[in-house]
Amino acid sequence: MVAGSTLDKTFKPNMAVNPMQFNVSTRLPTSLDNACQVLFLFSDGKLKGSARKIDSASDGAIKKLFVSKDFSAKAGQTVVLHALKGITAERVLLVGLGERQTADAQRWREATQAAAKSLIATPASTAISDCLNAVTIENLDSSTMAEQLARDLVNATYVFSLHQRMSPTPNASLTAVFLSAEKKSVEAVTEYVHRGSATARGMSRAKDLGNLAPNVCTPTYLADVAHILHEEHDKLSTTVLDEAQMESMGMGAFLAISQGSHQPGKMIVMNYQGRKRAGSPIVLVGKGVTFDTGGISIKSSDGMDEMKYDMCGAASVFGVMQAVAELNLPLNVVGIVAAVENMPDGQAARPGDVVTSLSGQTIEILNTDAEGRMVLCDALTYAERFKPATVIDMATLTGACIVALGNVASAVMGNDPTTVDELLQASEQSGDRCWSLPLWDDYQKQLDSNFADIANIGGRPAGAITAACFLSRFAKNYHWAHLDIAGVAWTSGKQKGATGRPVPLLMQYLFNRLSH
Ligand code: BES
Ligand code: MN
Ligand code: ZN
Repeated sequence: MVAGSTLDKTFKPNMAVNPMQFNVSTRLPTSLDNACQVLFLFSDGKLKGSARKIDSASDGAIKKLFVSKDFSAKAGQTVVLHALKGITAERVLLVGLGERQTADAQRWREATQAAAKSLIATPASTAISDCLNAVTIENLDSSTMAEQLARDLVNATYVFSLHQRMSPTPNASLTAVFLSAEKKSVEAVTEYVHRGSATARGMSRAKDLGNLAPNVCTPTYLADVAHILHEEHDKLSTTVLDEAQMESMGMGAFLAISQGSHQPGKMIVMNYQGRKRAGSPIVLVGKGVTFDTGGISIKSSDGMDEMKYDMCGAASVFGVMQAVAELNLPLNVVGIVAAVENMPDGQAARPGDVVTSLSGQTIEILNTDAEGRMVLCDALTYAERFKPATVIDMATLTGACIVALGNVASAVMGNDPTTVDELLQASEQSGDRCWSLPLWDDYQKQLDSNFADIANIGGRPAGAITAACFLSRFAKNYHWAHLDIAGVAWTSGKQKGATGRPVPLLMQYLFNRLSH
């Protein structure tokens, strides 16, 4: 802990409230206390492995359910059976996989999410499954299946309780999961289970930071979190630029936003060196607007509380850095977080102000609510010093992105088709969807300014694209892609909360880079 840290007191981000142990071996244990057997079944009702054994030991308990239509194994359907005759496990969870012929990775995801949800709602402390042996899905290997299952199980136990007086209690009693695998795949499955659970813990980190109240999760708080990651992981080091340092460097775009807040802005840099030889790193840049009032171009008050989530790009950078360090990945990754609060006050920037960015380009601020691009552009210029292999920024950048893609997919745009393609592929593999929008030069002229090199808004048409166009002016010297995560980083309504996206997308992208 950093002396005098904002984390000294109460709001230490939740680490592994529910530590879950995964065990992978060729045989499943036969007698365990307080266990749940988990069976994934197709709708044709053909039973294999444990399902077959359990069915015959229990006088056809599973088959009967198919006959009575109480369970037809529709995708994501679940049923819990208790105290079956001849079975040692206290309960058996049936999970539907739908039609065998059409099953794919997406279907498996649907099933693992449903399984995780039902499983943690039971009082079981141990889960046992032979699904990696008994379930075959085309184009899906057992390691990837296990990775998804582990990720969803850890994810399902997430609770946010940092602001509630009761000490955090796990919302599940599940602490151990036993999976069987073929001898030749035990090692790979074990590794992928680690990937899945580390990804989920990275998501928890991102969710915690997103969900924290904006009077707690300030730029200074985020800097403290970076210092904690530094202390916890040998290969990760942190440096934080304060406003005076940014001033002397010439980060006029960032400072134009932070000057309106009493909270000092921070440029947080985390450097993970997982490769001995100092090779070009992958640089991740996150928008860390800890609260976005809009500034002088103030937002309407409806739902403004949700602008505490305007730092979810940053939160994902923290989540990814943590997971990468935990997995000890042999990659070099730099995380840069532009942390700032966007407030209206006597010092705040006005519409019409012209400022000079770190790149030297002047910017006319026509709308102070387009603050994300202002803080990101200086971070993107700063990223040049790392001689990056590629730069990926993540930002809750535009409402227009939500209009375009809803709450399903992030938008991806960039100057390097390879990076964009690799992100699209990782999206397909991880289920953390993104979709590309065009970044044609035709859109650039919407940013013309009469008074500066560039304006900070491009009008209503194609708002997500013109925001990316703005960033592209600062990303000319390296391969770059931008993710607009405005629609996916949190959910509104009764279930309001951060989602931890796009941590899974980025982790998959990095896993794919391991074989480069
Ligand atoms: N953080 C917002 C974007 C946002 C709004 C994300 C709502 C998720 C939900 C961003 O800073 C912003 O205010 N963007 C403006 C840009 C406009 C002024 C060009 C927007 O989208 O309206
Ligand atoms: Mn804004
Ligand atoms: Zn914003």
